[in-house]
Amino acid sequence: MQFVPMNELLAKAQAGKYAVGAFNCNNMEIVQAIVAAAEAERAPVIIQASQGAIKYAGIDYIAGLTRLAAEKATVPIALHLDHGTSFEQCMLCLRAGFSSVMIDGSKHALEDNIALTQKVIAAARPVGLSVEGELGKIGGTEDDITVADRDAMFTDPEEAARFWRETGVDALAVAIGTAHGRYKGIPKLDFGRLEAIKERVEAPIVLHGSSGVPDEAIREAISLGVAKVNIDTNIREAFTNIMRQRLMDNPEDVDVRKVLGPAREGMIEVVREKIRLFGSNNKAHL
Ligand code: G3H
Ligand code: 13P
Ligand code: ZN
Repeated sequence: MQFVPMNELLAKAQAGKYAVGAFNCNNMEIVQAIVAAAEAERAPVIIQASQGAIKYAGIDYIAGLTRLAAEKATVPIALHLDHGTSFEQCMLCLRAGFSSVMIDGSKHALEDNIALTQKVIAAARPVGLSVEGELGKIGGTEDDITVADRDAMFTDPEEAARFWRETGVDALAVAIGTAHGRYKGIPKLDFGRLEAIKERVEAPIVLHGSSGVPDEAIREAISLGVAKVNIDTNIREAFTNIMRQRLMDNPEDVDVRKVLGPAREGMIEVVREKIRLFGSNNKAHL
């Protein structure tokens, strides 16, 4: 199958009250694990690559690996740029064959974020490619921020209404209490804010920093309009925990396949669990 437009996957998810998992990849084993999990669960899936992943693996390897995976797959797959920060980066990805991009203008003032997002949409939409925007600042779990800082970083529902009106973005990432990386405590999501945003924004909502968010909170967020859930850290944890253990158990072994193979199996299980949690299992045919 060719890559499927992300907006089509998300429109079906929104209508069906489930979410499509968007899983970050950095290498072949991760791509294979995501696709094997999607096949096993008969789920649509978004494979995404951050600018860091592109720098590490090369844009042509990311595009090539994922295109091959999609061609061999029998479930719908989209390839998405995660947290693109410039117009130029987005265009490079679209030229390399990505089916959608995120333009993360959240560090800019609202007007500038709107203008940048509009510019990417004007280039992407005429050729059938979807665009995710971000409003509010989704930080990292390592960021040293106070409770007051946190509130200031959250997405303002009225600003979200304006962002949506003026951009018509295909998906909107919001800051409602999640952060990237491993949480020190249990994250508390601001569901009232999510509801207020969803009352004003028709676009599917994207939840970033979803590794480590309690299952119940993920279900609640999906019931309130989240249709794309981003997972990276939980995949990294499975990969590195299994690799670490195999290397410690077999210190003399030099066959990398004996390390990477079990790590890939572990990642498949993580992605399958997430797909079931998001309710996107058995939705491949839609
Ligand atoms: O949004 C953050 C993702 O986990 C990607 O992280 O920039 O280290 O690839 P990265
Ligand atoms: P986690 O690494 O916290 O799962 O976040 C992933 C993400 O939001 C990618 O954009
Ligand atoms: Zn993110």
